[in-house]
Amino acid sequence: MTEPEDLIQAAQAAFAAATQPAALENEKARFLGRGGRLTELLKGLAKLPAEEKRTQGARINAAKERIEAALERRRGELAEAELNARLAQEAIDVTLPGRRRGAGGIHPVIRTWQRIEEIFGSIGFDLADGPEIENDWYNFTALNNPENHPARSMQDTFYVDASDEHGKPLLLRTHTSPMQVRYARMHRPPIKVIALGRTYRVDSDATHSPMFHQVEGLWIDENISFADLKAVYTDFMRRFFETDDLQVRFRPSFFPFTEPSAEIDMMFTSGALQGRWLEISGAGQVHPSVVRNFGLDPERHIGFAFGSGLERLTMLRYGVDDLRLFFEGDLRFLAQFN
Ligand code: PHE
Repeated sequence: MTEPEDLIQAAQAAFAAATQPAALENEKARFLGRGGRLTELLKGLAKLPAEEKRTQGARINAAKERIEAALERRRGELAEAELNARLAQEAIDVTLPGRRRGAGGIHPVIRTWQRIEEIFGSIGFDLADGPEIENDWYNFTALNNPENHPARSMQDTFYVDASDEHGKPLLLRTHTSPMQVRYARMHRPPIKVIALGRTYRVDSDATHSPMFHQVEGLWIDENISFADLKAVYTDFMRRFFETDDLQVRFRPSFFPFTEPSAEIDMMFTSGALQGRWLEISGAGQVHPSVVRNFGLDPERHIGFAFGSGLERLTMLRYGVDDLRLFFEGDLRFLAQFN
């Protein structure tokens, strides 16, 4: 026959084995419930003689108390375990470092822009600005590029659905040269200025983008010659690329707004790109008609202008071989420059 004390151990073991509150309550029913094992013992009392009934009853009650105490203890343990598990799950580690916002960086083409401003600023060039949406006169006509002249086809452009006061459609400027006209018409010589900005052409491949950047340079005074252009531009190249190991050459070319006109090529005489002539800029002595459009007398005022692509300069400086990388916004590419 089962002894009350045996039930204590059995219940303690069963309670310890229950790892969930629901399982524990099932075990409670098995011992203390209506059909439970302890209740069975109590029912057995009825058959015993009065003397034994008392001692046996006392033992059963003592066992019941200890089983109930074990149950309470186990309930407490399970509740605490559940709480701890929840706390662990919802824990906030206040010692973790915060998540920073990714620090932005300067776009490589804009780095080139800033270097150019710095270099030309240091030799006394002023900085001009102008609109990206231009009128026909500033973009073409004032630059000795008359309507219906075939030279206009060198710069196929985007027209805007609006016109100027002469009924001519506005356009996205095809070069930075209109800014030299705007600036020159508002200043007296010596005129010594650079103007940087976005420019647009119908063009798209590995070395051309419909939107790109140029820097325009203009120096007009009474005796500014091609020799000054050579000196200024060669010095600029050496400072921009941070090396004296390069050569600059001027190859005859054509632009309606300069005469004579030249294509400026450069060649590194050391390093990875060494030995190849690279086309870098258009340039020339400002055409007398353009000087007249500045509001100046070409018999008295003379000088040079140049226009260079910032993407090209940036590609050569950093060894980038596809211009489209500058405009795709891929952080893996852009982050390398910061
Ligand atoms: N505006 C010319 C171009 O974009 C470059 C240039 C500027 C040439 C100034 C000569 C003088 O092609």
